[in-house]
Amino acid sequence: MEQVMRNVLLLMAKNRKANQLARRYGLRLGAQRFVAGQTLAEAISTVQTLNAKQLLVTLDHLGESVFTEAEAIQSADACVQTLAAISERGVRSHLSIKLTQLGMDLSRDLCKENVIRILEEAKKHNNFVRIDMEDYAHNEKTIALFRELHATYGNTVGLVIQAYLYKSEKDVAQLGELNANLRIVKGAYKEDASVAFPNKADVDKNFLHLAQQHLANGHYTAIATHDEAIIEQMKQFVASQHIPKDAFEFQMLYGIRPQLQQQLALEGYKVRIYVPYGDDWYAYFMRRLAERPANVSFVVKSMIHA
Ligand code: FDA
Repeated sequence: MEQVMRNVLLLMAKNRKANQLARRYGLRLGAQRFVAGQTLAEAISTVQTLNAKQLLVTLDHLGESVFTEAEAIQSADACVQTLAAISERGVRSHLSIKLTQLGMDLSRDLCKENVIRILEEAKKHNNFVRIDMEDYAHNEKTIALFRELHATYGNTVGLVIQAYLYKSEKDVAQLGELNANLRIVKGAYKEDASVAFPNKADVDKNFLHLAQQHLANGHYTAIATHDEAIIEQMKQFVASQHIPKDAFEFQMLYGIRPQLQQQLALEGYKVRIYVPYGDDWYAYFMRRLAERPANVSFVVKSMIHA
């Protein structure tokens, strides 16, 4: 039953009509639990609050699957403005981006130009930009573009690798040759068993394997999960291998397990919170519901109390 619900939510994430309808209701419907706000000012204020609790941030100006060149350029503008605001306000935050948001499905050249503009701004402020990983259809294209950009921008740019994909072991090994800064995640999209482990236990096992492999080879690793068992095993691994605390960081999503976020920071680990903001929150929100279909109950409560 839970799997059916998950699949329905992931299909709904791609529905354009539902997206337009949801936007009309603003962040009511419960999305404000996972989304910092619709404006850059709200996002910066959230970063300040998190920074005050010793939590680092990566901001994500929400958006994916743009339909025109103008929309892709506008998305890139918003990313550039976000980097400028981070620097002006002196807050501690990186930036996360999605290639479809920057026009990947319209034109690779347009997308590359947009990302270069963002990376130039990041370089100017000595900041860092991570490219999120989207569904399997975009995986190879994303890795190929990352390689091109990394050749020029080095570790100003990082990438995400999804533990649910069979191919990720090979990708981590190859990207390790570039000393790439990788965020390891379990994977949030609906994928076929021909490309991704269908069982959660296998995904969890592969997550540990990939994160440990990349760290053991001396490459900076972002361990992005709310899974306490994995976090505990990673803590034991780094201690046993004498890996210093500045060689990795834990990452979690805004609104999920805030006490665990705080506890890790108090233990002296680097902890970074992924904070999304903007109008285009619908698909992101649907993926968060799909990860834990029990979350749907608080949406229903929000609708009753709206
Ligand atoms: P798991 O799903 O096993 O959850 C462990 C526990 O965490 C649950 O028992 C629950 O308590 C809590 N939890 C998890 N999700 C929750 C939710 N939505 N609501 C409430 N509680 C929840 N994916 C991707 O494909 N591409 C990407 O670029 C990224 N980027 C990214 C950045 C960061 C910083 C994080 C933390 C995650 C991503 N992801 C992602 C999402 C990732 O792939 C995955 O879907 C989620 O992290 C959920 O998986 P967990 O690792 O938390 O484990």
